[in-house]
Amino acid sequence: MNKEKLTVLDHPLAKHKLTLMRKKDTPRNVFNALANELSTMLAYEVTKNFETEDVEIETPLMKTMQPQLTDKKYAIVPVLRAGLGMVDGFTYMLPNAIVSHLGLYRDPVTKKPVEYYKKFPKDMDEREVIIVDPMLATGGSAIDAIKLVREHTDKPIHLVNILDAPEGIEAVQKAYPDVHLYTIHIDDKLNDNAYILPGLGDAGDRIFGTL
Ligand code: PRP
Ligand code: URA
Repeated sequence: MNKEKLTVLDHPLAKHKLTLMRKKDTPRNVFNALANELSTMLAYEVTKNFETEDVEIETPLMKTMQPQLTDKKYAIVPVLRAGLGMVDGFTYMLPNAIVSHLGLYRDPVTKKPVEYYKKFPKDMDEREVIIVDPMLATGGSAIDAIKLVREHTDKPIHLVNILDAPEGIEAVQKAYPDVHLYTIHIDDKLNDNAYILPGLGDAGDRIFGTL
């Protein structure tokens, strides 16, 4: 595991919120609220090294030079469906970001991702990309998502998950060593159905109530 390209959010509030998400009796509205709260925390980490420039503004008292984010372009790419559960948290923090949807589902038999939707803007090649998906299990979906994004831009790609399996991190880092990974926690392992243990179950089903 390349720790230089891996940020695990080490914060008691984040761990607490993840524990609440894991509980099987946590209701759907609470689960979704927690996913977005954790996403806002992850957005802090992803944007940690974003550049600022000093601009002149006027407070009620005087003119002053103050920092603001440069007008770098970036795109949030939720991997459907479950990635949608992180979009509000990210756009809350980055209101100017565009959202480019990418539809992938994991075939229940092969466990391999299948692409079914993609909507990227024409200027995707100018955009730094933040891929969001709550779960990184085998890494297959993330690798496919990165591959599809890479076909459109050479700018940095950030992969943001809430819960990772070690197997998924290894696979993504092997395929795309340049991509920075962010997560709240790395769990123990995958089970025989490639679900994360102890995990939180099927994120998409819990977000949309399709259990
Ligand atoms: C889940 C999850 C990831 C993927 C992770 O999506 O949201 O996209 O599985 O598994 P992997 O790392 O082994 O590829 P799923 O395919 O269940 O689709 P959904 O979001 O529509 O429920
Ligand atoms: N996808 C999920 O939603 N949960 C897992 O544990 C693995 C893949």
